[in-house]
Amino acid sequence: MGSINLERHRLARGRLARVRVALVCGLMALLVQAGARAGQDGVVNPFEGDAAARRAGAALYDTRCAECHGADAKGISGPDLTALWEVGTSDARVFETIRLGRPGSIMPSSSAPDDEIWAVVAYLKGISTVLPVEFVTGDADRGREIFGSMCVRCHRVNGRGGHLGPDLSRVTRTRSRVRLTQAIREPSASVAVGYRTVTLTLRDGRQIRGVKKREDVFSLQLVDTDERLQGYLRADLASVRDVAESLMPVFGSDRLSDGDLDDLLRFLASASEADAAP
Ligand code: HEC
Ligand code: HEC
Repeated sequence: MGSINLERHRLARGRLARVRVALVCGLMALLVQAGARAGQDGVVNPFEGDAAARRAGAALYDTRCAECHGADAKGISGPDLTALWEVGTSDARVFETIRLGRPGSIMPSSSAPDDEIWAVVAYLKGISTVLPVEFVTGDADRGREIFGSMCVRCHRVNGRGGHLGPDLSRVTRTRSRVRLTQAIREPSASVAVGYRTVTLTLRDGRQIRGVKKREDVFSLQLVDTDERLQGYLRADLASVRDVAESLMPVFGSDRLSDGDLDDLLRFLASASEADAAP
């Protein structure tokens, strides 16, 4: 009697275990599907750009992930997590990896609430290099050198450089690759607002060139080619001539190869990231 009961009990337990396995598999499949859909629909992190959530995410990261991925997320036994976005992953895909883990590796799955996972994703994205795809080619270090030798005289990046041309720290965020290539290869094709060239002739015949900053009926201000901000009264000027050409030299492929240009744009794009970091 007792043994039969036991047998039935064992059968029931087996069935229960099978049901549980089926349930878990179903759930996993649903999660995978949801993840894939999230990837396709470009689901946005509810904490995108949220500084408080990033701080919370940092604390969660330290306790749950740092032992494998490193305190700086540059990787130990687990891979570097700071270059994921740079190579084109999405927030949703990182979320899904953290949720499901990597079966067959030591990367664990997580049963944490969605909010906590999104906070970790926000933290990781905040410390990551995130380059728009169009700027991922090229070598940023070479680009920095080229910038230092050819451009820094007239342009600032992150607080360093000259003032004759516009600050380029964030230029890859507001201009496309095509537009930037044109600005460098043929500067006069379209001159940046606030940097139009002007030539002044003083009453004594001296000529001064620069970019016009401000003018009214009585006076005019410009930054001359030695980068000095100068003000003149119109009464002291023999003539004021607006010039269509840019003061920026032309960088044709003889001076700057396509490879150099690639490196330069990559440098500007990474600088724009550094600039965005707090
Ligand atoms: C016990 C070690 C360990 C822990 C803890 C761990 N990971 Fe991992 N993680 C790994 C390993 C190993 C891999 C690589 C797995 C593989 O072979 O694809 C990985 C992969 C990843 C990936 C995919 C990287 C890629 O290149 O696609 C992400 C994202 C990730 N982990 C995030 C996290 C986060 C966030 C946490 C904390 C919530 C965490 N991991 C905790 C070891 C770990
Ligand atoms: C002699 C000074 C000078 C040098 C050297 C110079 N530029 Fe310029 N640059 C300017 C001026 C002035 C402008 C604004 C007029 C214009 O748009 O052409 C400008 C504009 C630009 C713009 C357009 C910015 C915008 O907001 O549209 C880009 C991009 C640029 N420069 C990149 C470079 C790069 C890269 C180099 C080095 C290879 C460089 N410049 C070298 C003076 C210079």
